[in-house]
Amino acid sequence: MNDYIKKSGTYFFIMLLPLLLITCRSQNSVSFLGLIPQPLEIDIQNGSFTINTKTRIIIDSDDIRVKDIAKNFAKRFRRTDGYTLQSSDYSANTPLKNSILFTDKNIDKSLGKEGYSLTVNENGIILKGMPPGLFYAVQTLFQLMPPEIYASQPTMDIDWRIPAVKINDKPRFKWRGMHLDAARHFFSVSFIKKYLDYIAMHKMNHFHWHLTDDQGWRIEIKKYPELTRIGAWRKGTTIAELNKPDVLDGKRYGGFYTQDEIREVVKYAQQRFITVIPEIEMPGHSQAALAAYPQLSCSGGPFEVKTNWGINEDLYCAGNDSVFTFLQNVLSEVMELFPSEYIHIGGDEAPKIRWKACPKCQARIKNEHLKNEEELQSYFINRVAEFVNSRGRKVIGWDEILQEGLTSDAAIMSWRGDAGGIQAANKGHYAVMSPAAYCYFDLYQGDPQYEPRAMEGMVTLEKTYSYNVLPPSIPEDKQKFILGVQGNLWTEFIKTPRQAEYMLFP
Ligand code: ACM
Ligand code: ZN
Repeated sequence: MNDYIKKSGTYFFIMLLPLLLITCRSQNSVSFLGLIPQPLEIDIQNGSFTINTKTRIIIDSDDIRVKDIAKNFAKRFRRTDGYTLQSSDYSANTPLKNSILFTDKNIDKSLGKEGYSLTVNENGIILKGMPPGLFYAVQTLFQLMPPEIYASQPTMDIDWRIPAVKINDKPRFKWRGMHLDAARHFFSVSFIKKYLDYIAMHKMNHFHWHLTDDQGWRIEIKKYPELTRIGAWRKGTTIAELNKPDVLDGKRYGGFYTQDEIREVVKYAQQRFITVIPEIEMPGHSQAALAAYPQLSCSGGPFEVKTNWGINEDLYCAGNDSVFTFLQNVLSEVMELFPSEYIHIGGDEAPKIRWKACPKCQARIKNEHLKNEEELQSYFINRVAEFVNSRGRKVIGWDEILQEGLTSDAAIMSWRGDAGGIQAANKGHYAVMSPAAYCYFDLYQGDPQYEPRAMEGMVTLEKTYSYNVLPPSIPEDKQKFILGVQGNLWTEFIKTPRQAEYMLFP
């Protein structure tokens, strides 16, 4: 059992199966702990520890973040069972019996900043690590506790028994991400926070927030108020099947996040050691922006915010310098709001029909000595990437951006299979693996006959778990370029938080 756990133990992601969280108990001993993700090393022991009203929290650290992690644990406990665990700082004569000790002293350095150890025995609990590792220790402890620990209302008289165990854990990958498309359907700040809680619960550390697309622009940009006044609203949403003529529901639909709300979300995420990666799509998937500012297109418009799904032919004009001025101004505000190292600039599914017919785009190709419209896309991405780099940040984009002429050190998000990620790593670009066939949770996860409408294709739980993030074709010296892995949730067919959770938790 332990060997098995050691071998398979990685911070893989999601698949938040509450059922698996059930601890199989027989009297006082357990034979299996359902922890997600599976920790690196687990040593299940006999016995247990039960938290009671006299249990004390002890903090052995000078780090304010460690104190906050302990305080937040106490807060969660009080919210759940209605009583307050007393807490105090550690001193040499502090009795450790019946305590929950949070410490960053004498830690196993090999576990790194995101690693931790967790010990539960009859005397109490010891959580050991630096932040964020110590925060992940708490997440593991929650999963070992009765599930009422996650309740939002106090539930009295819980038997807070926790099985005796010794766990050493650290993540296999740096980037453990989950994405949400807030453009096709809009999700409130309160749901975004819940989503962040789910991410944190599974020790994931990136939230990729898809904020702009053909069907809606969802982020307030002070310099361009039309982006949200016009671009955040569509006149209706199609109820037709995919690839069938549009049938509108006739309901005006939309919404956007104010800059204050964005700051609130970023802060909420930081408190959970999650980096929020904003995505501002370009050059394609931009019709909502073009509806607001049609002069940024090749044809000049007019356009409406799109009401149906699929790939759109209208996109930003690559021959017009004011497009780059616009994008730089937008990205400046975005970078003010999001402190992330990476800014996602999309880059996927940008047909070249308009560019082929546009005199300005053709002049750009000629003047920049580009071979064709594909190289014009690289020119576009390079130019935006240079700007982002000049502000001390980096761009990441979908795997379409990895093509001839890409000179920037952009990172790649591999979604059309893993070939893009492999190619990126081999060329020395960082990559996040997110192949649709394994990582797109908007696809069906069960027999379509019995499931609500979902995106075509099938990604079962088993399929997702079978994914090998590091394909053998990446040589060992290039494996470091695979930053990690991410699950994506596109929302063409996900209209409500309830449906989003249904797809997220298979
Ligand atoms: C994508 O799914 N178009 C990145
Ligand atoms: Zn053009």
